[in-house]
Amino acid sequence: MKAVILAGGSGTRLYPVTLAINKHLLPIFNKPMIYYPLSIAMLLGLREILLIVNPEDKAAFSKLLKDGSHLGINIQYKIQEKPNGLAEGLILAEDFIGRDSIFYMLGDNILYGHNIVQLLNEAKKEIEDKGGAYIFGYYVKDPQRFGIIEFDNNGNVLSLEEKPQKPKSNYAAIGMYFFDNKAIEFAKMTKPSPRGELEITSVNDMYLKEGKLKVKLLGRGFAWFDAGTHDSFLEAGEFVATIEKKTGLMIGCLEEIAYRNGWISEEKLEELAYPLRKTSYGKYLLDLIK
Ligand code: TTP
Repeated sequence: MKAVILAGGSGTRLYPVTLAINKHLLPIFNKPMIYYPLSIAMLLGLREILLIVNPEDKAAFSKLLKDGSHLGINIQYKIQEKPNGLAEGLILAEDFIGRDSIFYMLGDNILYGHNIVQLLNEAKKEIEDKGGAYIFGYYVKDPQRFGIIEFDNNGNVLSLEEKPQKPKSNYAAIGMYFFDNKAIEFAKMTKPSPRGELEITSVNDMYLKEGKLKVKLLGRGFAWFDAGTHDSFLEAGEFVATIEKKTGLMIGCLEEIAYRNGWISEEKLEELAYPLRKTSYGKYLLDLIK
């Protein structure tokens, strides 16, 4: 399986902040937003990662993450000329993905919760073994604002509705998916929606029609943020700060994950921590070695 993270888009809901800076480079408390989705891919053991970026932002992403080798991973970049929609990322990632299955995540989604890796690994394994697609449902109190999932007791999706007037459940689809290789073909078959974008919902609908779309629910113990508005951006930062200060453990710390996964040595971790030594982030990395 390969990981594709979408870090393009226009970020209009964060204007004027994102007029000059890409949203995914902004800090969620003590690290850039892109660290959070990237950390999920790394926690799943995925080391081949493609970032979809806007033309003007590639240099900044490369400066931050380079080719990933310092973290024991391989990061490639693919330019999306215009924000033509979430499904376009699948088409752009075709060469990178080859014949593999896909972990697909939006760069502004932040997830945290007990046993998240175990839950995602179950979905990952099922897609690798049997094919199809997995989406993830999060309970929301205002389902009219989200893409809402109706499902049966076996986790089979029965319907997907975008911002429904009469929601069939309270479970919103978050911006994270597992797909088999067919997703690329499906993405190529999508037509621009009334807002002019190739929608990921259209891809999911194709899996649904084939009876191959499954859902896993993220229960009450999970936190999910789409950090794309002023309020949710702040909430996500406050959440991360609160958890990190209370537990003394970091969320989305890429160097820590690489080290714990055995992808980088102690010496490498120390080298990575050195330029950050004046920050609590750097001190945290050095404490891992002690
Ligand atoms: P959206 O929230 O749909 O859009 P956006 O980030 O452009 O922001 P806004 O609505 O404020 O204008 O995007 C979801 C994620 O996907 C986000 O991380 C950006 C990314 N994205 C792309 O990489 N390419 C795209 O074509 C689109 C639409 C989004």
